[in-house]
Amino acid sequence: MKTHSIALIPGDGIGRDVTAAAWSVLQKAANSLGFALDCTEFPWSCAFYKETGAMMPQDGIETLRRFDAILLGAVGWPQEVPDAVSLHGLLLPIRKSFVQYANVRPHRLLPGVQGPLKADAFDILCIRENTEGEYSGAGGRIHQGTADEVAVETSIFTRTGVERILRFAFEQARTRSGRLASVTKSNAQKYSMVFWDEVTRQLAAEFPDIEVTSYHIDAMAARMVMAPESLDVVVASNLFGDILTDLGAAIQGGLGFAASANINPDKSAPSMFEPVHGSAPDIAHLGIANPIATIWSGAMMLDHLGETEAAAAIMSAVERTTASEIGTIPGKDRTEAITAAILAAL
Ligand code: NAD
Ligand code: IPM
Ligand code: MN
Repeated sequence: MKTHSIALIPGDGIGRDVTAAAWSVLQKAANSLGFALDCTEFPWSCAFYKETGAMMPQDGIETLRRFDAILLGAVGWPQEVPDAVSLHGLLLPIRKSFVQYANVRPHRLLPGVQGPLKADAFDILCIRENTEGEYSGAGGRIHQGTADEVAVETSIFTRTGVERILRFAFEQARTRSGRLASVTKSNAQKYSMVFWDEVTRQLAAEFPDIEVTSYHIDAMAARMVMAPESLDVVVASNLFGDILTDLGAAIQGGLGFAASANINPDKSAPSMFEPVHGSAPDIAHLGIANPIATIWSGAMMLDHLGETEAAAAIMSAVERTTASEIGTIPGKDRTEAITAAILAAL
């Protein structure tokens, strides 16, 4: 039997509940479609940090490297461990070390879900640069705590990094409507974003079949709300993509619906699948986290592993569940009830 080895990192807060839900759905899909998922769970989290002084062991990245894929819940417990420590100790190094440069975040309205917009059609694919830019971690602070304090955060954009994410986005546009929106802030940021726009124009010559339009991030945020039907594939830098995808999630009806895949397109290292949302400390332990974002991310993982039939079966079960109005209103149905309905539909 074909077996895929999966590293499971539930992480913090609702990460534990939503990964448990997703795992039960993935298992059922595997059992009924004749393949196996071999799961190794890692307790790496803020609780692990409190015990050991690190978010993961020193050889954590090498340990993960031998898996076919990684499924992650959420990382962060800001009351106990500063976010800059927890995220730079676990989630961000995985994305960077495994060159998961394409963060693929689909946003569409599931049947039965009423988003905040009047528009009943909402279907965009956000492609977010995932390894550099504003998240490069370069910078420093001087004269800390004094009136002369200066803090510098340097965004690093390389030709390799910009070209590969734009190329990936052009290719995605080719599989959809042929329309690509590239997002910058080149009216204010005169180096990195002007460079991004230039590379976009250079690549456009290679993809004459793709209609590419450049937008500023502020105008794009408004467009996503006012005219989402004018958009299809949207590509953005690390930070801009981060912000636009929480907006995309909100338009989908809530953070609990938005899935995400951190893809290493060359397959030189494992890819990682996780919801867009975080550990949601405000609802942790209440049993009301929406597991759909993580279940959807799990379906993206199966798709990536070549189990396309299982991925489609899971998405169909999710859609039949929301169509019957289970899990459609944030906080109304319990995590367990939504998961049980999806399992029953599968
Ligand atoms: P968050 O996404 O955790 O929560 C934002 C809001 O959305 C909260 O009101 C929360 O209750 C709600 N929400 C999120 N997921 C939900 C779900 N599945 N069902 C129902 N409601 C849901 O963002 P935050 O509060 O800014 O961050 C909390 C912690 O998580 C921080 O430590 C942050 O750094 C971290 N974080 C981690 C990731 C990740 O691991 N990928 C992503 C985002 C935030
Ligand atoms: C996300 C999250 C992370 C990001 C944080 C937790 C570092 O918000 O996956 O969207 O900004 O990438
Ligand atoms: Mn985010």
